[in-house]
Parts: sequence; C-alpha cells; structure tokens
Amino acid sequence: MKALVLSGGKGTRLRPITHTSAKQLVPIANKPILFYGLEAIAESGIKEVGIVVGETALEIKNAVGNGQKWGLKITYIVQESPLGLAHAVKISENFLKNDEFVMYLGDNLLRDGISQFVQEFKKKKADAQILLAKVSNPAQFGVAELSKGKVVQLEEKPKKPKSNLALVGVYMFNSKIFKAIQHIKPSKREELEITDAIQYLIDQKYNVIPHIVNGWWKDTGKLEDLLEANRLVLDSCKQNILGSMDKESKIEGKVILEEGAKIINSIIRGPAIIGQNSSIKNSYVGPFTSIYHHSILDNSEIEHSIVLEYSMVQNIKRISDSLIGQNATVIQSPSKPSAYRIMIGDSSRIEIP
Ligand code: TTP
Repeated sequence: MKALVLSGGKGTRLRPITHTSAKQLVPIANKPILFYGLEAIAESGIKEVGIVVGETALEIKNAVGNGQKWGLKITYIVQESPLGLAHAVKISENFLKNDEFVMYLGDNLLRDGISQFVQEFKKKKADAQILLAKVSNPAQFGVAELSKGKVVQLEEKPKKPKSNLALVGVYMFNSKIFKAIQHIKPSKREELEITDAIQYLIDQKYNVIPHIVNGWWKDTGKLEDLLEANRLVLDSCKQNILGSMDKESKIEGKVILEEGAKIINSIIRGPAIIGQNSSIKNSYVGPFTSIYHHSILDNSEIEHSIVLEYSMVQNIKRISDSLIGQNATVIQSPSKPSAYRIMIGDSSRIEIP
C-alpha cells in the first residue's frame, strides 16, 4: 500500500502567509503541519509516499527531503496547476499504479493517526473508504449520507445536511478511482472534485464504506482552525525545559522551552512553546501560544497565537488570536505623529481596538 500526500493547492484562505510560503509548513506547536501527516503515515506501516507539490515545491522538498527521517521513501509529483483533489490523484497514476493507497490532505491533522483506518480498509477490501467526523456545523463541510454501513451520497456544503458526518481529509482507494476520475467534469469552481469521483463509484455500485473517527480532527486551511489545532496539540504536549530562564521569570503549567530559548523577567503560562534561540523579555506569554525559532518578544503580551521564525514583537500591550508571519515586525513607535504606520502584505488583515 502507498500514500499520496497533497501539498500543492492555492491556499487562498491563508493569505498573506501563502503568498510566500506553503501552508502545509506552518508550524503547529513548532512542528510543520505536514510532518504530523507523514508521522501518521509512517506509523501505519506505509513506506512509499508520493507528495503532490505545486508552486511551493522547493520549500516542501527542502523541509521533507527524501523522507529518511520517518523511514519513508518519498517521490515528488509536480502538479502544474491546482486543478482539484481528483486532478492531483489523476496526475499521480504513474506513481500509484495498481496499488491501494491512502490519500492524505497535507493540511489535515488527526489526533489518533490513521493506522486503524488503514487496517480496516485492508481487512474489508472495499473499493474506497472515507473518513468521517461528527461535527456541529455540517453545512460547512462535505457531508456523507450512510445507509446499512455504506456511503450512499456525498454532498458538498449542503443547505440541508442529511447527517452530521463531515468528510475528513483522508481517503483510501484502489485503482478504480482512476476510472471514476476519467468520468467526472470540472465543478463550478473549475476543479476536478474528489467527492464527484467518489459519488461516481457509489453510483456505479462499487463498495464505498465509511470509517468514523472519534479523536479530534482539524483541517487547518484557515486561521481559526490553525489556532485551534495549535491549541489542541499544545494541550497534549509534555513539559520540557531545554532553554534557560532567569530568577525573575515564572513558568506556569505545561511549557516547552526549546534549546537556546531565553526567558528574561517574564511570565510564561502554558500550554505554550518557545522555539530555539527565541527570547522573551519583560513579557507575558499566555496559554495556547507557539513562538517559533529566532523570534523576539520584548515588553509585550501575547496569547492564543502563533509567531513564525525571525519575527519581533516589541512594546505591544496585548496580542491575541493572531498569526504573525516570518521576519515580521510589530512594534509600538514613540515617533510623532502618533498614528498607525503599516506596511502590510496583500490580502492581510489587521484588527485594531
Ligand atoms: P484545499 O485546502 O481544499 O485547497 P487550497 O489549498 O487550494 O486552499 P484554499 O481553498 O484556501 O484556496 O486543499 C486541501 C489540500 O490539498 C491542501 O494541502 C492543498 C492540496 N491541494 C493540492 O495539492 N492540489 C490541488 O489541486 C488542490 C485543490 C489542493
């Protein structure tokens, strides 16, 4: 069995971060999202992995390499343009051949991994298996209708959902899926949709079965979900202090200080993680905050946020629910006139009280 990890896409909902980098590499508790997926695949016993890449191919290749770190053999598959999830499968036929495979969306995160799911698919010998999670707001997801243990219909963001079971970004297929993709047409948003291909399998009486996940699952395609995934992962981390702190500082709750992290006259209230060679001075870091490597927080307060590498926050009263990109600077300036002076990327968002 093989795995196909989708790490191309447009990432429009995470602009401006995705103007310059891959959303699959945004760190959750200081580890790129994509790495959680690769770990789950390795843990399930799969060795051969194809990664579909787009514009951010180089960045993904630099971060993942040949996969040795996870005991995986990685093949990169270039998707010239993000024409849909089913298109990504279609261009990967040469790699997948006649093997069964798990398709894993590179921005998805599952608490309990995929081993159980992979085992069940192997045992039941279905043509496709979809992963479903119970949600309170099914109208915002792809929704599955089940009958007698089988999937009978899939609907994308239905106005009147027939169940509360949302499609999770992990699927299992055998080679019948290629035939299904040949028969579907691009959707209104001009993409070849994997839900249409699965619906074709259902309509042609192939065996499509569900697997319902109990642990949490997050699609990190937009900011709120990214912050929630960060919260969920930090919550399950164990305390680990490799960095240093002075006598004036205080650490409360589960906190990870990576190597070279320095805490000076500050309070860190976990769950929180401070990355390698980052420094926190005269500041407060509140729960559910991840500060990546080589960043500086000076005389500021932050909580429920993610700060990426080489950034600086200085003299800021309070930051919350935020994602601060690489090499970004957020400072309070004493110079007159006392106005907001902003140089902000395309499709950015700033909320000012
Ligand atoms: P999505 O989040 O559904 O799509 P997107 O990345 O284009 O983002 P947005 O809707 O914000 O514009 O994609 C799910 C995953 O699949 C993600 O890791 C990107 C990947 N993907 C591809 O590799 N190729 C594609 O053609 C598409 C649409 C997505």
